[in-house]
Amino acid sequence: MISHFSLPYPFSDSNVYKYSNNAALLHTKNAIELTDRYLDEISLKRELLTKHPERCYHSSPHTMAAQWEIVDLIINNLVTYYPDKFELEKKDGQWIFSNLLTKETASFKFGDRTTLEIEPLDFIGRHVQEDLILMMQRDGDLILDAGQLCFPANWSLYFNSEMNFKEIHSPIPGFQSDFLVDRILQFLMRIEAGTPWERKNWSLMAGSRLDSSLETFSEWGQARKRVTKENAGELVHFRVEVQKLFRLPKSNGILFTIHSHMLSLEKFIQHTPWLEQFYAILRELPKAIYDYKGISLYREQVLDYLEAELKKR
Ligand code: HEM
Repeated sequence: MISHFSLPYPFSDSNVYKYSNNAALLHTKNAIELTDRYLDEISLKRELLTKHPERCYHSSPHTMAAQWEIVDLIINNLVTYYPDKFELEKKDGQWIFSNLLTKETASFKFGDRTTLEIEPLDFIGRHVQEDLILMMQRDGDLILDAGQLCFPANWSLYFNSEMNFKEIHSPIPGFQSDFLVDRILQFLMRIEAGTPWERKNWSLMAGSRLDSSLETFSEWGQARKRVTKENAGELVHFRVEVQKLFRLPKSNGILFTIHSHMLSLEKFIQHTPWLEQFYAILRELPKAIYDYKGISLYREQVLDYLEAELKKR
């Protein structure tokens, strides 16, 4: 579906939303997407990483080789898909990476941690809007061993560090019961290098904060109580995460990238088919799912707003 206001639309043709393995092949093979919010989000990311390093960054010592693979993959994507914005020169084992948007140049010896001021994953994450999670595969499982996470939709990197795939997904209603989580894990463990996948996740948010971590819930969660039928269009935002999965061939880890997009409901509904379908989905959404997504406190208000807008068309 063509995106309006450059929002990736998360729904298929069905007006009934349920959890499923909705991953699809990523044909462009590009991990990174730049939007017109690039500079603002990069500077917000760096500010958060400086002020709250324990909340936004985690790594186990044994992830260093996989971290360099991520640097390789992302820089390669940046210079391939955005050659007018990023450059790479390789000379005698030395990599000279230039970001023409932030006007920065970094020079380091690939694979040598001592030639960078910060860890490789932390370094490259500061040049892209995506959050970057590294899942290492061992003992038939995937473990969250490293990540740079600035824009979580109500979860905590610190809390989830070193958890396996099932533990991470344990709060999600219905995920365990019908073996969905087992099937998704099996699917992930079979992902091959060179064949990346993508999926979209959606939620609503009262307010427009990208850094909605579990740790700061008291700062942004209160806005849920302020939503009315009258202010919903402006206050409530539709949030979409574009998530991509890449096998790292040498370390056998999985890179999981998350690009968070947000659009106010009043802009979202300007496209009538979106208004119609989202109204139908939200009306039929199972209680367990809207409770989990944190929409319960203002779902009725949003439905009233959408219904009133539908009557105007
Ligand atoms: C391997 C990389 C992945 C990581 C690190 C990851 C991580 C997470 C985290 C941290 C949450 C929030 C959990 C909470 O509430 O505390 C979540 C939610 C969820 N994940 Fe994953 N996930 C991954 C892959 C997948 C895949 C491949 C699927 C499905 C095909 C999936 C489906 C979901 C769903 C449906 C939710 C609930 C989201 C919502 O309703 O808002 N995840 N995931």
